[in-house]
Amino acid sequence: MRVVMVGPPGAGKGTQAKLLNERFGVPHVSTGDILRDAQRAGTPLGLEVQRFLEEGRLVPDKVVIGIVGERLKDPDCRPGYILDGFPRTLAQAQALDELMANRGERLDAAVFIVVPQQELVRRLSGRRVCRACGGMYHVLFDPPTIPGTCGRCGGELYQREDDREDTIRHRLEIYACETGPVVEHYRAAGLLREADGVGTREEVFGRIAAGVQ
Ligand code: AP5
Repeated sequence: MRVVMVGPPGAGKGTQAKLLNERFGVPHVSTGDILRDAQRAGTPLGLEVQRFLEEGRLVPDKVVIGIVGERLKDPDCRPGYILDGFPRTLAQAQALDELMANRGERLDAAVFIVVPQQELVRRLSGRRVCRACGGMYHVLFDPPTIPGTCGRCGGELYQREDDREDTIRHRLEIYACETGPVVEHYRAAGLLREADGVGTREEVFGRIAAGVQ
């Protein structure tokens, strides 16, 4: 299975990509996670992208395309992959087309998760993430049993820097302008699988899984 997850910040791309990974056993490749890990580790890449992440701006295409190209060389990506957060510009989508053609691969689907803007802001402003295991919570929809503590590993929960309300609005504007053409790119190719992202995680997953099998 080779799938890309498209949708605005907070649509549930990461949540649903994890569920697809559990169901179908192909790796979940999140550019956001790779960039945040590099930032935390203080690598040269992390230092280069820090400002972009904090301000909710897109990291330059060349950098992200390079990261994905390298990650897809790993042996676990041979049978397939779920790309989460990539591509998010037309240039990235075209680069992915070329990369896949060179690898002799075809994309099975571009899953487009649709959620109203008001709900996106609610989801993002309440999101909390575990520093240790990356587990995800929401202060209202999925609160941890012990406030501030991950129920899976006991790690500390934190709020992403880009999940503050003014940065969320900025990310949504960038999404509308940069990622809209990506949706049209996949629609024109007949690969777009549009899924209503409102409902429980399981309900949304049911819709997505039905569209990619
Ligand atoms: P990235 O990490 O990709 O962020 P994003 O696309 O903005 O997406 P999010 O992770 O915020 O949301 P999501 O759709 O995955 O939703 P989630 O499942 O977490 O990118 C971050 C930054 O990295 C970018 O701003 C940019 O700077 C850089 N970057 C990354 N990729 C790049 C690229 N290709 N090019 C350039 N720059 C790049 O869910 C959100 C919340 O909702 C959670 O709290 C969750 O628990 C909750 N939730 C999920 N589903 C439901 C549901 N059904 N009902 C209720 N709550 C739900």
